[in-house]
Amino acid sequence: MQKLPSKIFIDGGLPQETKKASGSMLASFGYPLDGQTTNPTLIARNLAAKQALPHQDFAGRGGEKLTEAQALEEYKRIVVEMSAVIPAGSVSIQVTATEKTTSGEMLEQARDRNKWIPNASIKFPATLTGLAAAGKACREMPINITLVFSQNQAAAVYEVTRGAKYPIFISPFVGRLDDIGQNGMHVVKNILKMFQNGDGHVEVLTASVRNLDHILYALQLKSEIITIPFKVFQLWAEENFRIPDENYAYEKPELEVIPYKPEIQLGRNWEEYDLSHGLTERGLAAFYKDWTSLF
Ligand code: E4P
Repeated sequence: MQKLPSKIFIDGGLPQETKKASGSMLASFGYPLDGQTTNPTLIARNLAAKQALPHQDFAGRGGEKLTEAQALEEYKRIVVEMSAVIPAGSVSIQVTATEKTTSGEMLEQARDRNKWIPNASIKFPATLTGLAAAGKACREMPINITLVFSQNQAAAVYEVTRGAKYPIFISPFVGRLDDIGQNGMHVVKNILKMFQNGDGHVEVLTASVRNLDHILYALQLKSEIITIPFKVFQLWAEENFRIPDENYAYEKPELEVIPYKPEIQLGRNWEEYDLSHGLTERGLAAFYKDWTSLF
């Protein structure tokens, strides 16, 4: 059986999808799913669907709001279930933050969530406070930097995590860049190119995957990890987990090119890189809104 050039994660909030995807990986490749990513929106979607049901054993049944503690308990229950399906894999759990949340508060959340399961990777946003927290957390636990949209943000992630004791993932969101007419896969390509001059301590996790072409190009680029929503995973499974051959070309003339910037180089102080990106700010606000809509 072949081995894929990238590790495959499922992106979602439902443990039954983790089970199905891992089973089909095992059947096709002889090894299970490598991991799982979650985020507050995906978890809230799972819990909101339960809230909408009138009769069941669930605190927020019949449309009742949960308390924040109950919502967190449910988040924990979901990732515990996912973790049991893929004990040798990695399960990303995100902190919930606004632009006002301090790095100390994020670190406190991270330490708590890291105790939920033995194979957690804690997700921090690619903001100033998010990276300040991540710089400390990476000495204590595996981490995943989320809401990444630029080469500058990636350089900062690389620098703030130098000397980390645990695996570090960086998650460029390709689909959300495509949504605004820019070629999101170019950010993956640019980050991988910039990291070629590094020590390999940060793994590029292609996220916000929307279609088969995102998977194929991420495999061709040898992105270390790809996280795939279950529906897109199923499309790929229907194509017998096609892998790109040397003739495969990812061509999206309708999307604006995001050029590689050679002037953005590793080796500076992490705070010197420009972290600002409108999609990072919007994404952070949307995650928080979705999460707090539960309670
Ligand atoms: C994964 O870690 C991300 O949270 C996820 O891929 C975001 O995807 P979306 O842009 O489709 O919400």
